[in-house]
Amino acid sequence: MSVLSGKNILLGVTAGIAAYKSAFLVRLLVKKGANVKVVMTPTSKEFVTPLTLSTLSRNEVYSSFTNEEDDNAQWNNHVELALWADLFIIAPATANTMSKMANGTCDNLLLAVYLSAKCPVYYAPAMDLDMYKHPSTSESFNKLNSFGNVQIPASTGELASGLVGQGRMAEPEEIISFVEADILNKLPLKGIEILITAGPTFEAIDPVRFIGNHSSGKMGFAIAETAASLGARVNLVSGPVNLSVSNSLINVVSVTSAKDMYVSVHQLFEKCNVAILAAAVADFTPSKVASQKIKKKADTLTLQLKKTKDILASLGKIKEDKILVGFALETENEIENAKTKLKKKNLDLIVLNSLNDKGAGFKTDTNKVTLITKDNKVIPFEVKSKKEVAKDIIQHLIKQLHV
Ligand code: CTP
Repeated sequence: MSVLSGKNILLGVTAGIAAYKSAFLVRLLVKKGANVKVVMTPTSKEFVTPLTLSTLSRNEVYSSFTNEEDDNAQWNNHVELALWADLFIIAPATANTMSKMANGTCDNLLLAVYLSAKCPVYYAPAMDLDMYKHPSTSESFNKLNSFGNVQIPASTGELASGLVGQGRMAEPEEIISFVEADILNKLPLKGIEILITAGPTFEAIDPVRFIGNHSSGKMGFAIAETAASLGARVNLVSGPVNLSVSNSLINVVSVTSAKDMYVSVHQLFEKCNVAILAAAVADFTPSKVASQKIKKKADTLTLQLKKTKDILASLGKIKEDKILVGFALETENEIENAKTKLKKKNLDLIVLNSLNDKGAGFKTDTNKVTLITKDNKVIPFEVKSKKEVAKDIIQHLIKQLHV
């Protein structure tokens, strides 16, 4: 899946001959799963029609502050458009528009949107070679780059004028690859390895029966997806669940029992930077697994159970400078119990779930958590979807990783 999937992308089109390529760019962005809106400078409509771009983007195209053709002239709100965008790509970017962007000129809707945009701005210059080399163009590049805008370099080749040199707008495919690579490079968890456990464990009684629990794995999987979407490489060690992952940065290691999970986690721990143990690991396992199916001969059956190894606690002993996060499911004296667990297991952070809270716990799509840090900060959150809870946890870790 592309990092552009689901993103709101505003494409700015300015008046250069390369504007004809904007149609291909819109089509490719839509194919990548992006929501695309187009804002054009008035003169660019002479190079490519709004009808083409609106048909391909499946959205209205904006080129002036009011919709003049409409009798009930509607205000095209530049601030709203700018805030809608997760990314603003200006392609082609002419020397004229770049100079105006660099100097704060605001005489059309595209420029007003540019000045209002808080999202990353990419611009793909397109012009003839001498215009490209002109010191005033270089000055625009320098200024725009100093504002944090990202230049998608023009390529060298035959130009519309017939001359050969630098100034040809990057091809739509190149623009997309450039933006995707730039986003991936800047993700806050790029280069970070995260180990996550999820789901229940099943402890065999005999060849057909086991002791399990109601954990669905949703919380651990949501954390894995969130971390991967922010660039982390994830090893997700999961007990038996009915879930799958969508991000190729996640490697799922399927295990069944607490013992299997212990082994896999210890194999993967050394190379991780952060470990988040969200699995509901069985605390006890049958002392002996019957080799044949147990028959119902007697009226009662007594199973002897022995303690499993506490995976989280074992990691706490060897963690060194890794960040270790545990979960605590409590029913009474929640904060105090969670703080004790955090200390005892040598954690950096504990995520407390209280079964007393509505919307928290197993099987639900929501959760209510309180984060407790090793310096005793208690950060409560409202009931949220598990995806949102995953974001809160990961955002907290990002802050910790970047201090
Ligand atoms: N955990 C683990 N290995 C175990 C048991 C628990 O790694 N054998 C981890 C869980 O993944 C969770 C944390 O320990 O991150 C807390 O588990 P919990 O069952 O709430 O706490 P316990 O320490 O087992 O204590 P108790 O059950 O007595 O509350």
